[in-house]
Amino acid sequence: MNALHVIALALLSVMAAQAQVIMPGRCPQPAVQEDFDAARYLGTWFDIVKLPHSFQKGECSTATYTLQSPGVVGVLNRELLADGTINSISGSATAKDPSEPAKLAVSFFEGAPPAPYWVLDTDYNSYSLVYSCTDLGVLHMDFVWIMGREPTMSPLTLARLTSKLASIGVNVTKLVPTVQDEEYCSAM
Ligand SMILES: *[C@@H]1O[C@H](CO)[C@@H](O)[C@H](O)[C@H]1NC(C)=O
Repeated sequence: MNALHVIALALLSVMAAQAQVIMPGRCPQPAVQEDFDAARYLGTWFDIVKLPHSFQKGECSTATYTLQSPGVVGVLNRELLADGTINSISGSATAKDPSEPAKLAVSFFEGAPPAPYWVLDTDYNSYSLVYSCTDLGVLHMDFVWIMGREPTMSPLTLARLTSKLASIGVNVTKLVPTVQDEEYCSAM
């Protein structure tokens, strides 16, 4: 076992404890939404399913996108915590390369490295499939959000997006649904 493997294994156990999804190899480079139109993507989206990760702890999660300035999308993520309080975080997203508008990068803190936010598939008015991946040397960490314009999503659409994720190597058995029950989420 070489040093990189030792580090990778250590990282794996730390990340596993934090419920991140780590996979072998480097980040896949999936096809993204063609001719992505950020203007049509603005507004509110409901989380339907996601891969578990440490920075999302609540339910009823939504993401609201606004046009902050030309080429800059404002991001507001909200969720309802178990104690009944609402947690929110705001940031901004831009496409680094204008020729690849679906490959956004979002940052939530001044000076923090932006995280990829790739729109793999959206029809703008019912569903969006968002993928983010971080290279960790010989491993990578996957983030996925399937979002909808409504709090529920057609099972057919969900199945189609899930199989798209499976085809790029995402472990879809780890996807977890977000509670979007109207009564439970009424405080949002
Ligand atoms: C996918 O996730 C399941 C459930 O956590 C796990 O048992 C399985 O080993 C994972 N597969 C891969 C290839 O990581």
